[in-house]
Amino acid sequence: MSAQYTLKEVAQRDGRDGASTWIVLHDTIYDVTNYKNKHPGGAELIEEYAGQDATSAFDDFGHSSDAKRILKDLLVGEIVDEDRRGNRKKKGENEGAKTKKIKDGRRRVFLSTIFGNCVS
Ligand code: HEM
Repeated sequence: MSAQYTLKEVAQRDGRDGASTWIVLHDTIYDVTNYKNKHPGGAELIEEYAGQDATSAFDDFGHSSDAKRILKDLLVGEIVDEDRRGNRKKKGENEGAKTKKIKDGRRRVFLSTIFGNCVS
């Protein structure tokens, strides 16, 4: 099993004050400290995501299999379960559930306007 880190721990590797530069792609952590200056897209594009999740930016460009091969040598570890993309998205789902409750509440107000409040 590879080493696991939280997003907070990764955020400390933002390349500042002599720190190394890590980025996250698909819940996997890469050390790009020595790679960023060799990046065909320039160091800045990678530095923009130093210590952060760069999955969308990386995928949006549509990197080649060459790029994916390079990643294998930069591997550091993976993101802990609770900070993974899938689990972060679940928070959004919960928000959806809240919205649903509000809608149910409004429906009840609507019905009681028509039929009166039977339970009072
Ligand atoms: C460790 C992570 C990364 C690796 C290993 C990597 C690797 C590469 C490689 C090998 C290329 C040449 C084209 C190709 O083979 O697809 C490339 C081009 C490029 N990359 Fe990345 N990349 C990384 C992260 C990123 C990120 C985070 C971004 C966007 C913010 C980005 C944006 C680009 C762009 C725009 C080019 C095109 C450069 C040009 O042709 O002028 N890359 N990258």
